[in-house]
Formats: sequence, C-alpha cells, structure tokens
Amino acid sequence: MVTGASSGIGEQFARRLVARGYRVVVTARRADRLQKLCAQLGGDEHAVAVGADLAVAEDRDRLAARIDELDAEVDILVNNAGSGIYTKFGAEGRDKELQMLRVDVEAVVDLTLRYLPGMVERGRGAIINLRCAEGEFAATQTAPHFAEAGQSAQSMRERLVVGGVGHVAAAGARTQLPAVEAVMSWHGGRSRP
Ligand SMILES: NC(=O)c1ccc[n+]([C@@H]2O[C@H](COP(=O)([O-])OP(=O)(O)OC[C@H]3O[C@@H](n4cnc5c(N)ncnc54)[C@H](OP(=O)(O)O)[C@@H]3O)[C@@H](O)[C@H]2O)c1
Repeated sequence: MVTGASSGIGEQFARRLVARGYRVVVTARRADRLQKLCAQLGGDEHAVAVGADLAVAEDRDRLAARIDELDAEVDILVNNAGSGIYTKFGAEGRDKELQMLRVDVEAVVDLTLRYLPGMVERGRGAIINLRCAEGEFAATQTAPHFAEAGQSAQSMRERLVVGGVGHVAAAGARTQLPAVEAVMSWHGGRSRP
C-alpha cells in the first residue's frame, strides 16, 4: 500500500513496486489522479485506487475495508501521504495544524497498527515512513510539524524491533534511496538480512 500516491514520491513508489511485480493499492484524496495512474500501471490486476482523506478516521476504515474486500495482504506499507506548513506556528489556523498532524502522525500510527501484526505473523514485511529531515532538528522555528513527524518516526523506528519486518524512515528532501531500495530488494528477494 502506498499512501499519497497521487503525485510526487508516492506515485514513484507505486510505479517502482509494480515494476517489481507487486500489486499495489494506492490512496490519496485526488481519486481521479489515482485512477489515471492505475490505468497506466495496467489496471486492477496491478494497481487499485482508493480515494481517501487519511485525516478522516472513517476514510481509513473504508480503505481497510476495501483491502479486506480484495482479500489482499499488505506486505509493504509506504506511509508517504503528507504535507507541510511552512509558516510560523499557528499562522494557518488550528484546523490546518490539526489536519496535518492527523495525516502525518495519526494515520501513520493507525495504518501501521492495522498492518504490522500481519507482517509479524507472516515473518516478513516492510514499513517505509516518509518524513522530514528537519524533524531531526526539533528547534526549527517555523514548522513544529517537522519535529512532530520526525519524532514520531524516530520513536516508531526505535520501538519497531520485530522479527522479519524492516522499517526505514526516509527523509523527503534527503531521501536515501539506497536504503529504501535495500528494503524493497530484501523483501522482494524473500531473503533475510
Ligand atoms: N519532496 C520533499 O522534498 C519532501 C521534503 C520533506 C518531506 N517530504 C514528505 O514526503 C512525502 C511526499 O512528498 P512529495 O514531495 O512527494 O509531496 P506531494 O507531491 O505533495 O505528495 C503528497 C501526497 O500526499 C497526499 N496527501 C496529502 N494530504 C492527504 C490526506 N489528507 N489524505 C490522503 N492523502 C493526502 C497527496 O495527495 P492528495 O492531495 O491527492 O490527497 C499527495 O499524493 C510527504 O509526506 C512530504 O511531507 C517531502
């Protein structure tokens, strides 16, 4: 599953996964873009689109229900959906700040808790969390979201020590593609590190 696949890094993840033989479920709010991507990737057999606002709990339930309906196992979860607020804290208003946290933190934790147990049970899986490199610098004055999302990813990385499940927290602007590729190859090759 790739979240935020209607553009940018998420779309590229979906393309790469399909090229490697995976069937992907792509999700984001702009369902029209997802449909177009899935058509390009060969249709339902290779890529399934589910329009959802990940800030909304009911939409996440609907996404999970669709995956159940497909009788699919989530082997790789790419928590990529997200956005940033690049102004001073509060300048965009309370709703926007909370909405961002729901996507960047709540949805990541929710989807991870839904699909991690299956990965652990099967003894294989990968979770790739996109985050901001700036999250490592909690003192950043303009965007506390960087700190929130970064610390959340860091905390997950430290706590996620489970057999057979890989976790990479990939920083957006400084995405370490070799690390991401390593997880995907390891998983795709079914070999253990
Ligand atoms: N590129 C960078 O330099 C950079 C730097 C730091 C962090 N990041 C992080 O890396 C990730 C990908 O970045 P990108 O550059 O590829 O950004 P992007 O092109 O703007 O893609 C963000 C994706 O997230 C989706 N999204 C946003 N809010 C959503 C919501 N409420 N529900 C569902 N989907 C939502 C968007 O789709 P819809 O609008 O269709 O919903 C879009 O597909 C983001 O989390 C971003 O914060 C990127």
